[in-house]
Amino acid sequence: MNNTSLNIALLGYGKMGKLIEEMSLKKGHRIVARIDKEEDWLLQAASLKTAHVAIEFSTPASAVQNIEHCFELNLPIIVGTTAWQHDQDRLKQWCISKGQALMWGSNFSIGVNLLFKLNQQLAQWMNVYEGYEVSIEEIHHTAKLDAPSGTAVSLAQQIIENLDRKNQWTLEENSAPDQLKIEALRIDATPGTHHVRYQSEIDDLVISHIAHNRKGFAIGAIEAAEWIYDKKGWFNFTEVFF
Ligand SMILES: NC(=O)c1ccc[n+]([C@@H]2O[C@H](COP(=O)([O-])OP(=O)(O)OC[C@H]3O[C@@H](n4cnc5c(N)ncnc54)[C@H](O)[C@@H]3O)[C@@H](O)[C@H]2O)c1
Repeated sequence: MNNTSLNIALLGYGKMGKLIEEMSLKKGHRIVARIDKEEDWLLQAASLKTAHVAIEFSTPASAVQNIEHCFELNLPIIVGTTAWQHDQDRLKQWCISKGQALMWGSNFSIGVNLLFKLNQQLAQWMNVYEGYEVSIEEIHHTAKLDAPSGTAVSLAQQIIENLDRKNQWTLEENSAPDQLKIEALRIDATPGTHHVRYQSEIDDLVISHIAHNRKGFAIGAIEAAEWIYDKKGWFNFTEVFF
């Protein structure tokens, strides 16, 4: 598929939408619609009909409605927006029962997906080393609307699935022994940063990812669009590509 030129609808035309446009054009794709507010669905209805695939990087408040619009139009969708998963079960059922296509990812960068693999393996190993207390720290720019980040939630879920002594995550300062503490910091002009830290009396073990810019997310989302445009089903970026 990598040689086929796609008509892409951008849902969300902020920092990510604009970067995806720039990088899609370089790969020979076309941008046929730019949806940046609810009214645009009506205003751009004709051009949306020519789209092969939509790439969604908008806001937690608008993502669910945008997914629904795509399902109504039979338009495969890549979802990069985070913090819409409260509606995941309903949307997944709709997607599968009506033959739609959606791929979501809490993080579309290769580096973070490698961190996910390391994180899963390390959590398994740590089952026998009970002296280590695990925690997650994520740092993002102050304009980020959700906390913790979708990436931090994915890291936490991977630890909970692999480390027997943790059953849930929390943002609370005082956590119970079976809770995994996430600290979400918002600092101006900070690149997206994630640390998984195992601390013991003797030493600390830390695995980290620090994004230098947003290009990695854009490349992953475009590759996901090239992959999904002729498929049906509910997919997760990490499961398909790693
Ligand atoms: N999964 C990943 O790899 C990844 C990477 C980066 C960012 N993100 C997430 O993507 C989202 C967007 O990030 P950003 O940095 O581009 O944010 P941004 O604030 O720069 O852009 C969001 C855009 O969405 C638009 N918008 C508001 N309502 C809308 C609607 N109803 N329909 C369509 N667009 C609407 C806003 O006008 C704005 O231009 C955030 O949730 C962020 O956390 C995910």
